[in-house]
Amino acid sequence: MRLDKYLADMGIGTRSEVKQYIRKRLVTVNGALPTGAQQKVEPGHDQILYRGEPVSYVQYEYFMLNKPGGCVSAVTDRDCRTVLDLIAKKNRKDLFPVGRLDKDTEGLLLITNDGMLSHNLLAPGKHIPKTYFARVSGEVTEEDVALFAEGIDIGEKKDTLPAELKILSCEEGISQIELTIMEGKFHQVKRMFAAVGKEVIYLKRISMGALKLDDTLAPGEYRPLREEEIELLKGIY
Ligand code: URA
Repeated sequence: MRLDKYLADMGIGTRSEVKQYIRKRLVTVNGALPTGAQQKVEPGHDQILYRGEPVSYVQYEYFMLNKPGGCVSAVTDRDCRTVLDLIAKKNRKDLFPVGRLDKDTEGLLLITNDGMLSHNLLAPGKHIPKTYFARVSGEVTEEDVALFAEGIDIGEKKDTLPAELKILSCEEGISQIELTIMEGKFHQVKRMFAAVGKEVIYLKRISMGALKLDDTLAPGEYRPLREEEIELLKGIY
C-alpha cells in the first residue's frame, strides 16, 4: 500500500495534506524518512510515525451506537446531525451505518466500514431478526399478536413475514411491547401498528441478529464492538 493512502485511510489528513506532511519530513517509516508519498508500506509490519507518534493501521472498525432521537442514519446531511457525527474516536473515514433507523427512533445501530458484513446483515434473503421495544398508543391485543404472527398487509406487494409480538404492559391507554421482525421495510414497525389502527409513539431497537444493545450506553453514546461480538455477527451467515 502507498504511504499516502495508509496515512489518509487512518485519518491523518486528505491525500494532498498527507503528501505535504511527508514533504515536510513529519513522517518516518521504520525510523527513516520515506522516499516519497508513493513509497510502499506493509500494514502491520512497517512502523509509521507521524510527528513522532505511531500510526497503526486499522482495516475495519465496528462501533455499537445507541442512536438518539433527532439525528439521521446517514454519513452526511446538509441540515441535520448524523449518526457519524456522534462517533468522535474513529480511525477510518469510510464508516457508515448498517441500515437505517428513522430520525425519531433510538437504539442499536452498527457503524462500520465492513461492506461484506453490512451486506450480509441487510440482504433481504438472510432474514436477520431485529427486535424493537415500542410504546404504542391504544391497547395492543392478543388479536394483534396473532395477526403479526401470520403476517399483515402494510401496502407492499407481499404481507409482512411472521413477526413475534410480545405485550409487556398496558397502562392508561399506552401499551409497551417488544416486536421481532425478520425484514427491514421502510417504517416497518410503525406501518405494522398503523395497519391494526395503532400509533407507535416511541421506538427503540434493542437487538439485530446476535448483537444486543449494551444497556449501559445512554442515547448518543457508543463503544467499539468486542471481538466476540464481531465474531457472533459474522457467524450468522
Ligand atoms: N421500523 C420503523 O418504523 N422505524 C424504524 O426506525 C425501524 C423500524
